[in-house]
Amino acid sequence: MKIAEAFAVQDYGVVVTGGASGLGLGFAEGLAENGARVTILDVDAQRVAEETESLRGKGLDVRGEVLDVTDHVALDKAIDSAAAAYGRLDVVFANAGIDSGPGFLGSWVGSVRPRRTEGALENYTDERWNRVIDINLNGAFATLRAGARHMKPRKSGRMIVTTSLAALLVEPAIGSAYMAAKAGLAHLARSVALELAAYNITVNSIAPGFFITNIGGGHAKNPEVQRTLARTIPMHRVGFAEDIKGLALFLASPASAYITGQQIVIDGGWGLGAAD
Ligand SMILES: NC(=O)c1ccc[n+]([C@@H]2O[C@H](COP(=O)([O-])OP(=O)(O)OC[C@H]3O[C@@H](n4cnc5c(N)ncnc54)[C@H](O)[C@@H]3O)[C@@H](O)[C@H]2O)c1
Repeated sequence: MKIAEAFAVQDYGVVVTGGASGLGLGFAEGLAENGARVTILDVDAQRVAEETESLRGKGLDVRGEVLDVTDHVALDKAIDSAAAAYGRLDVVFANAGIDSGPGFLGSWVGSVRPRRTEGALENYTDERWNRVIDINLNGAFATLRAGARHMKPRKSGRMIVTTSLAALLVEPAIGSAYMAAKAGLAHLARSVALELAAYNITVNSIAPGFFITNIGGGHAKNPEVQRTLARTIPMHRVGFAEDIKGLALFLASPASAYITGQQIVIDGGWGLGAAD
């Protein structure tokens, strides 16, 4: 197979949850730039309108729908309608996610990392826990389920979930609900991969390190936060949505046809440990 054929996604029908911002927008744009037809599903009405218009302005085949992934009935309908619009559903990205607020430790102050009262286990509210699990884990589960209903009869499809480096490593600055949701999602993806392998459907996880997006109110856009983090990342820089397009295209395209149930870390070496 020629390399251009290996990565061909021309006319693929694609759905991306949380596709109106950050990494999801990178997945949507990256696939659409390569000829796929992409539906963005996102709860942020303004971003859905703006980003859909902007991508269409670039000549890309993109449609957008306002959707909350915690509404599983609406999610089923939205995925049915995307599949109907394209006459096929080739790729589903279960990507929508939120942060879970502070963890039990704050950032380094000199050689000390202060404990944070609001991130302590005894102060973790049910509301905070449930919201993160509902969006980051239950929403992704419902997205995979809706995708399977279309892909299984066709015996073909690609499912890609966005987990996190925090699914593999405990990071005390990140709330425990986020880590539990992402670790659960990574294992859910493995389980679904095993179940659907006989149907020629692959299911893989993308585990990003630190990317500049709008998550957590966009605090990562602060240049000082970026500089501080870049020092701890072996490649000495944070990630951008553009950095993730290649991996998304790889996992969505024929090039990765024999890879399933894997979690691929994309983090500039962050998870390896400290370097120079
Ligand atoms: N940015 C990072 O460093 C990083 C690292 C690891 C994992 N991730 C994961 O990447 C995914 C994308 O996050 P991002 O960093 O691009 O953030 P982002 O905030 O830029 O994008 C997330 C999108 O999801 C949407 N969304 C949130 N709740 C939703 C809901 N209930 N229904 C539908 N859409 C909803 C938001 O409106 C937003 O457009 C998330 O799952 C996140 O946990 C991000």
